[in-house]
Amino acid sequence: MTFDHDLKATVRTIPDYPKKGILFRDITTLLADARAFRRAVDELVQPWAGLKIDKVAGIEARGFILGGAVAHQVSAGFVPIRKKGKLPHTTVRIAYSLEYGLDEMEMHADAILPGERVILVDDLIATGGTAEGAVKLLRQIGANVVAACFIIDLPDLGGAAKLRAMEVPVRTLMAFE
Ligand code: PRP
Ligand code: ADE
Repeated sequence: MTFDHDLKATVRTIPDYPKKGILFRDITTLLADARAFRRAVDELVQPWAGLKIDKVAGIEARGFILGGAVAHQVSAGFVPIRKKGKLPHTTVRIAYSLEYGLDEMEMHADAILPGERVILVDDLIATGGTAEGAVKLLRQIGANVVAACFIIDLPDLGGAAKLRAMEVPVRTLMAFE
């Protein structure tokens, strides 16, 4: 893991959002800083420079912002994993839990061809419930999930370890203990 103090300083922390007791790590301040945004995307993709990636899957909503930039950088297609009810064609769907709630996500069943090499992208991994659900959906339609990338890891909540136990290589750029 790259531990970069300057990049970390661009993340804003909001206490008690969206629920009491949660320290919300807000990346809008990182995204609004041109150098920080470029650096975060460059560092996220660095291990895959020159390797063949077919698709980048981004998780709604913050994963869309980063996933689109990552897909452009590695010359891959982009696939949205959305909260339920937003996609118009045939979907696969899964229920999941996250640090502060429960939800369902889905993706188009034909978005990825069997065996295609996919990178999963989101802004942050906490409990890993969201990313675990996304990996299950991707594998259900036959994707080869070669890695999962996040700007922020909350290691005390165990999400990155959960993904590694599913044999998904995990890249994160900073941690908040
Ligand atoms: C946040 C974050 C991750 C997820 C991580 O998304 O962007 O997707 O929580 O939590 P977990 O590791 O405990 O599952 P959120 O559902 O708040 O959606 P948003 O991007 O639409 O704000
Ligand atoms: N998603 C899950 N936990 C989070 C946190 N603490 N800050 C921002 N997004 C989150």
